[in-house]
Amino acid sequence: MDTLVLKDNIQDFEVAADILENDGIVVFPTETVYGIGALASSDLAVQKIFIAKNRPLDNPLIFHISDLSLLNELVEDISLEAETLISSFWPGPLTLIFRKKKGVYDYATCGLDTIAVRMPDSFVVNNLLKRVDFPIVAPSANLSGKPSGTRFVDVYADFNGRVDAIFDVDIVDLGLESTVIDVSSDNITLMRPGSLSLETIQKKCSDIKIHELKIKNNIQKIISPGVKYTHYKPNASVIVFSGKSKVESKQKFLNEKIKSGHQIISLEYSSIEEMAKNLYADFRKADRDNIEYVLIESVDDTGIGKAINNRLYKASSKIISSE
Ligand code: TXA
Ligand code: MG
Repeated sequence: MDTLVLKDNIQDFEVAADILENDGIVVFPTETVYGIGALASSDLAVQKIFIAKNRPLDNPLIFHISDLSLLNELVEDISLEAETLISSFWPGPLTLIFRKKKGVYDYATCGLDTIAVRMPDSFVVNNLLKRVDFPIVAPSANLSGKPSGTRFVDVYADFNGRVDAIFDVDIVDLGLESTVIDVSSDNITLMRPGSLSLETIQKKCSDIKIHELKIKNNIQKIISPGVKYTHYKPNASVIVFSGKSKVESKQKFLNEKIKSGHQIISLEYSSIEEMAKNLYADFRKADRDNIEYVLIESVDDTGIGKAINNRLYKASSKIISSE
């Protein structure tokens, strides 16, 4: 497949909208990560997304909208708490899971009776949504299991030849996916920590439970289907250091591996925001450079640190804890 590279101009938005209207798929930047999008109404295009990503077929997609009036066509009801979260945080990096209106978009929601919706703060997606008549469904732009794409160079490497077009517009500002909150019942639950911190959300909605994968008799009760798959893992082995002496134990590990001739890097960041913004891009650069080990310290589990730690642990091959 020939893949067009599109820029930030009116003609290219028309080209992309045209592709979407004709069952095609397009990679575009949002404020969190790049997404790979299709019209929610096109089962054929949705299927192409699953194929392009090698995504398991039971992992549903997030619906992106730019206009609240579209929400009523997707969801059964909107609780008072959900209304508060919407008015406080949309557009922005918050995905809400609602009870789905019966019979709508069964393919893109993988037959679930719930639906994940977000209003991104991205002029690229908004420009596309203005030109099409349906929501745009989009998972993160990465081959399944790998870190999400946050730079054009990375999504181009993954998807050139696998999608119809890719926007070369590097506006990803946050670098980690949206926070996912389930508001489909009275038990409001954090399903995936993300770019909007739990503390910020709790200022508007105090009673939020935190979802933990329950494993009982070896049967996993899957509420958010994505949580059972491998995520965010580069080819390099990610070694995460936590606990009181994490700095020292990382240095020791680094020295030993260098001595024995391994390709290794140690990632350091000056702030938590910088870490969030660059983490996935650094993982991918490590793979381009044929690095064997990526060493990194975990962070305080507060603010967006919760999302960073979640991604680090899922990406890790080994966690070295010096409690
Ligand atoms: O920031 C983001 O959220 C990015 C950008 C492109 O919007 N998208 C993204 O999509 O991260 P994805 O597919 O990589 O992650 C969506 C997560 C998956 O874990 C999926 O299982 C979950 O949301 N999800 C989608 N629909 C759901 C539903 N109805 N119930 C529970 N979980 C759902
Ligand atoms: Mg993803």
